[in-house]
Amino acid sequence: MLHVVDDLLPTDLLGALRQLCLVHGELKQIHPGDALFSWRADDGRTMRSIHAPEQRQLMERYLNDHLLPVTNPFCTQRAGVEWWCNVNNDLDWHIDKDEIEGRRSGAYVLPLLSTVFYPHVSCAGGELLLADNPPIPTGHTGPLPQFRSVISIPPVRNRLVLFSPGLLHRINAFEGERYSVAVNIWAQEPLTTSASAPPV
Ligand SMILES: [Fe+2]
Repeated sequence: MLHVVDDLLPTDLLGALRQLCLVHGELKQIHPGDALFSWRADDGRTMRSIHAPEQRQLMERYLNDHLLPVTNPFCTQRAGVEWWCNVNNDLDWHIDKDEIEGRRSGAYVLPLLSTVFYPHVSCAGGELLLADNPPIPTGHTGPLPQFRSVISIPPVRNRLVLFSPGLLHRINAFEGERYSVAVNIWAQEPLTTSASAPPV
C-alpha cells in the first residue's frame, strides 16, 4: 500500500514542524543514535523522548489532529508510535524495522505502517524510492528480497506519504534542503525506544 496526502497541515503547524526538525538536528549532534527515536504510547501515559515538553506537545497535536486520523483506516491495534526527524540526510536501501532487535537477533521486526511528512523542501532530487518487492513478513531473517522496479515519490512541502511494512526503500541523492518527520506505527513498543530513549 502506498498513500499520498498533499496539503496536510495548516501553515502554523507546518512552520512548527520545520523548527522541530532543526531542534532534532541539534540534539543529534550530542546524543547517540538510538536515543533520537521517541516513543509515544496510545495509552496517553508514556512519552519517551529526549525532546522538551514543548516539542512533545507539538507532536501530540500533529499526531492527534492530523496524522492518526489518516492512518487509522490502515492499521488497527496500535500500541503507539515511534517518531524522529531527518534533516538533509539521504539513506540507502533498507526496510524499516526495530533497529535494536535487528542488531541483537538479525530479525526484521516490522511496524504496522511507515509514514513520512515533509515540512520543508527546497531541493533537487531527494525522491523517496519504493521497491516493488514482495513485502517481507515480520520476524524475517536472511537476505533481503529482490525487486524489479521502483515507484518514485518526490518530496513536496506539506506532503504526507504512508506505505506498508516490509518494503525496501531509499532516499535518492539530492542537493538543497529536505526536512522530514518520520512516524512509524507499532502493535508493540520496539526495543529501539524501550531500551534507549529516557522515560518521561
Ligand atoms: Fe525508512
